[in-house]
Amino acid sequence: MPTLNETYVTKGSWRPNLFEGKVVFVTGGAGSICRVQTEAMVLLGANAAIVGRNKQKTDEAAKDIQSLRKGSKVVSLPDVDVRDVKQLAEAVKKTVAELGRIDFVIAGAAGNFLADFNHLSSNAFKSVVSIDLLGSYNTVKACFEELRKNKGAIIFVSATLHYYGVPFQIHVGAAKAGVDALSNALAVEFGPIGVRSNCIAPGPIEGTEGMSRLAPKGLESVKSKIPLQRLGTKQDIADATVYLFSPAAEFVTGDVLVVDGGSWQVSQGAGSQDYPVTLKKALAAPGAKL
Ligand code: COA
Repeated sequence: MPTLNETYVTKGSWRPNLFEGKVVFVTGGAGSICRVQTEAMVLLGANAAIVGRNKQKTDEAAKDIQSLRKGSKVVSLPDVDVRDVKQLAEAVKKTVAELGRIDFVIAGAAGNFLADFNHLSSNAFKSVVSIDLLGSYNTVKACFEELRKNKGAIIFVSATLHYYGVPFQIHVGAAKAGVDALSNALAVEFGPIGVRSNCIAPGPIEGTEGMSRLAPKGLESVKSKIPLQRLGTKQDIADATVYLFSPAAEFVTGDVLVVDGGSWQVSQGAGSQDYPVTLKKALAAPGAKL
């Protein structure tokens, strides 16, 4: 089921048809965060192509998102692993064949699980860095010609985990630090050719795959410690996305838009709640293979 509906256009903050004639290419578009980003873009006039590894999930998401606006086109690009730049290049080719162009890119495909250092094998670390960081690089690499031609814009989905030390998130923190660095450097390299690059760093957003993986017991107890006293909603992420792609942000590049209700400022990351009790046990237990 989509998260947004036509009230996003009729009652929301944004002008209908804001992105008419534009195309957004989204990796991880069937997942929760990137899916709502795609929904917002489609509701506001864009067509979209979503990339995923799982065929059924990606096909269903594309169909659902397309149903949000009459006349919209949302292309499903399943069986694509962002670690493989050739698969992404093929996906870009199909997108241009079906939708004519790519103006906006959301690099959002990500992998995550909770693991302390002792239980994180070298291959596990590499898997997450490859999906999150190399995958983000590959996405821009595959889309570059279109971005250059259309003076497009990129949003990377980052995090706040690397602003301080978050236990059980070594792999993701390292990958997302790299994503921020990648975005900043691209902003500088691409600025002169009219292409913008920014990150969105979501905090605790309710109803997302990330949250169910990272906080399986729920986030109720965390709410009161978030400065704005609530969890984020998927619409908060949609709005940040629309802003960064809209003409309102045409002088904004090399930035990270943190959408977390002020959360990271009070330094409580996933796995920190009972620090260091669980961590001590994990580090003392038998670990993963190398
Ligand atoms: N704890 C510790 N290690 C784990 C793990 C966990 N919960 N889950 C996977 N790993 C390890 C595996 O054991 C393997 O390491 P090994 O070869 O040393 O045993 C390594 O990670 C790769 O796992 P594999 O399942 O082969 O990789 P994959 O490429 O198919 O999957 C992951 C990538 C691991 C990131 C997987 O969690 C995934 O596909 N996630 C996608 C969805 C997602 O995470 N979304 C969250 C968005 S916030």
